[in-house]
Amino acid sequence: MTQVHAVLSQKGGVGKTTITVNLGAVVADTLGADPEMPPVLVASIDPQASAVWWAERGNAEALPFDYDQLDDRPEGLAELADTGYQHIFIDAPGSLARPAVLARALDVADDVIVPTVPEPLAYGPTERTVRELIEPRSLPYRIVRNLWDRRDGRLDLDALTAWLGEQKLDYSNTIIRRYKMHTNASAEGKVVTQYPPGRTATEARSDFLSLALELGYGGKVEGA
Ligand SMILES: Nc1ncnc2c1ncn2[C@@H]1O[C@H](COP(=O)(O)OP(=O)(O)OP(=O)(O)O)[C@@H](O)[C@H]1O
Ligand SMILES: [Mg+2]
Repeated sequence: MTQVHAVLSQKGGVGKTTITVNLGAVVADTLGADPEMPPVLVASIDPQASAVWWAERGNAEALPFDYDQLDDRPEGLAELADTGYQHIFIDAPGSLARPAVLARALDVADDVIVPTVPEPLAYGPTERTVRELIEPRSLPYRIVRNLWDRRDGRLDLDALTAWLGEQKLDYSNTIIRRYKMHTNASAEGKVVTQYPPGRTATEARSDFLSLALELGYGGKVEGA
């Protein structure tokens, strides 16, 4: 059975594409990427096609997942669940300019990941994403705190966490830390499972592995 995960936020630049491709990569890698039938599809409904741009910057053949660009044919979203993938990650755009495409993505989604960042300007759009798009559909969701730099200390992170708690918003225990490696990797079209060995790469990868474990994306999904 296919599980469809939508990665979305009304706020731009919070890490939707980064989380989509790297979470997709660790899940595919863990489940055993068979080049003939990868277990994961990354589907982009962002007209900017960042995920595809990402994939095509590097060696697309080496990616552990398949990818597809669907913003111009959203009807393809309805068919995703019949494609045989175990997990499909949908990368949504940073604006709500085309609500119909987003609605189709949410129609097929089993759950939603809402990246956010430890900056007060991100609070409003994060909350609106949940209240306006996710709660009316009763979809399970998790806000994921991204782009935390340990060198900045915990003040902004703790403020975000306290605010999420006060608003009774669901958030993952896992935090995705800021690593320059992620920013550089996007230019090279690389995903975490392809980073050169080293301590930082291991730590960077472990964030996505933890998130996949916490969200329950690891096991093979059988039956209903
Ligand atoms: N954990 C991280 N560590 C380092 N850089 C990151 C991290 N997450 C995101 N970035 C960088 O921040 C920028 C924005 O990330 P990304 O493109 O994933 O956001 P987005 O939400 O998809 O943006 P958009 O709304 O434009 O689609 C990129 O340059 C990306 O490389
Ligand atoms: Mg993006």
